[in-house]
Amino acid sequence: MALFTRLGQGRHSTYIILRVCAILALLWTVVFVISPSKIYWDPLSSWHYRWLDYTEYEGNAEDACNCSSLLQGDAHSLEQAKLLSISRDFRKKVLRSHDYYINATRDCRTFKSSRKYLMFPLSKEEEDFPLAYSIVVHHKIQNFEHLLRAIYAPQNIYCVHVDRNAEVSFLESVMSITFCFPNVFIASQTVDVVYAAWPRVQADINCMADLFNVSTTWKYFINLCGQDFPLKTNLEMVRSLKTLNGANSMETEKMGNGKIWRIKSAHRIVDGLLQATGETKEPPPFNLPILSGNAYILASRGYVQSVLKDERVQQLIAWAKDTYSPDEFLWATIQRMPNVPGSSPPDAKYDLSDMTSRARLVKWEWHEGPVYPVCSGYHVRSICVYGVGDLQWLLEQHHFFANKFDLEADPVAIHCLEWHLRHKALADIDLSL
Ligand SMILES: *[C@@H]1O[C@H](CO)[C@@H](O)[C@H](O)[C@H]1NC(C)=O
Ligand SMILES: *[C@@H]1O[C@H](CO)[C@@H](O)[C@H](O)[C@H]1NC(C)=O
Ligand SMILES: *[C@@H]1O[C@H](CO)[C@@H](O)[C@H](O)[C@H]1NC(C)=O
Repeated sequence: MALFTRLGQGRHSTYIILRVCAILALLWTVVFVISPSKIYWDPLSSWHYRWLDYTEYEGNAEDACNCSSLLQGDAHSLEQAKLLSISRDFRKKVLRSHDYYINATRDCRTFKSSRKYLMFPLSKEEEDFPLAYSIVVHHKIQNFEHLLRAIYAPQNIYCVHVDRNAEVSFLESVMSITFCFPNVFIASQTVDVVYAAWPRVQADINCMADLFNVSTTWKYFINLCGQDFPLKTNLEMVRSLKTLNGANSMETEKMGNGKIWRIKSAHRIVDGLLQATGETKEPPPFNLPILSGNAYILASRGYVQSVLKDERVQQLIAWAKDTYSPDEFLWATIQRMPNVPGSSPPDAKYDLSDMTSRARLVKWEWHEGPVYPVCSGYHVRSICVYGVGDLQWLLEQHHFFANKFDLEADPVAIHCLEWHLRHKALADIDLSL
């Protein structure tokens, strides 16, 4: 905690020092890397931060893919990438174990520089608009580390909730990564997450409490799971959030008749599974209209404060604890309660679907075709696990994050997405600073 206060106070001087370091590094680049004849011809932005780009470094196996043609949907390149993804040699080179991360983070400085984490804010605009993240994970360490790298910025703050049921070596490797960063921490209270049950929501609430307590400066809250990946750079998210003018953005719609049983009958966890008890539930407190949404939201600081402190919300939470999949209605319901900062009225005219809200893009199997192109990866519980062929379409959408990605299933999809985002972030650096 003391660290954050210090960080806060010294932020401006740290920023200046880092800018000076960046400029020195730039001069070094000019003297040693770029041939003098080119300096006068390249536009400044194209080589300023080239050392932070993901291209052509350390001869990585992924360099065999041409991401720019893959992102344009070139059929031949897509076919080649598919073959590469399943080749044993390639997979051996790109897939990483728990032990790999535990060892690699023994030397944090080398880890952060070799993985090209951004260690200074890329713009004053981003520095002045810090974001708070809750990341709920239970397995797939490499997904987690690539996700963290893609969203990491020193002005933001990150709470990681590791499921109490997770493998010990997974927890160890997450901890060893978080210890390398002053603004990334493990949630102070953790729970056993059970599919469709209350603890999934509690995990986010625990992170909300920690984030709220640890830092007073962040403007918006974003929650993620380990299989999400960003579609926007930090700067794009900041600019998009500013246009919301304090409003929250999340799916919130009338609950379909097919889902009403979820809130009408009581449930409890038996042997790690959620089961109906056969009892009928009381109606919600204050007869609140229960709306349908999803587990992932973009919420203002004031919304998070309401979740933690508003007495009406505390009663709603107490009532929701024995429902089925409260993550898919709690946030959406709070979003339509009067006097919650950034909320909207309960009237149906204010409904937002998953496609119109900006929080999360998901391809549902039964909407493929009419609503969006067919999944180029495969399905898990009717949700598309994206393949590299989905990227072109994904990047045309306004959502901040998409779900689901699996690095083990398609390493090239994540590689090209992170390649694209880093390239864009560097190209967008505000040179007027
Ligand atoms: C990658 O593809 C782009 C566009 O299709 C092309 O212009 C470029 O030359 C290719 N790069 C390599 C290294 O093959
Ligand atoms: C451990 O990490 C160091 C670099 O930090 C590396 O040189 C070494 O090969 C790694 N050892 C193993 C067993 O991966
Ligand atoms: C917030 O931090 C204070 C001490 O810094 C602690 O006493 C309090 O319990 C914390 N609250 C939460 C919700 O973690």
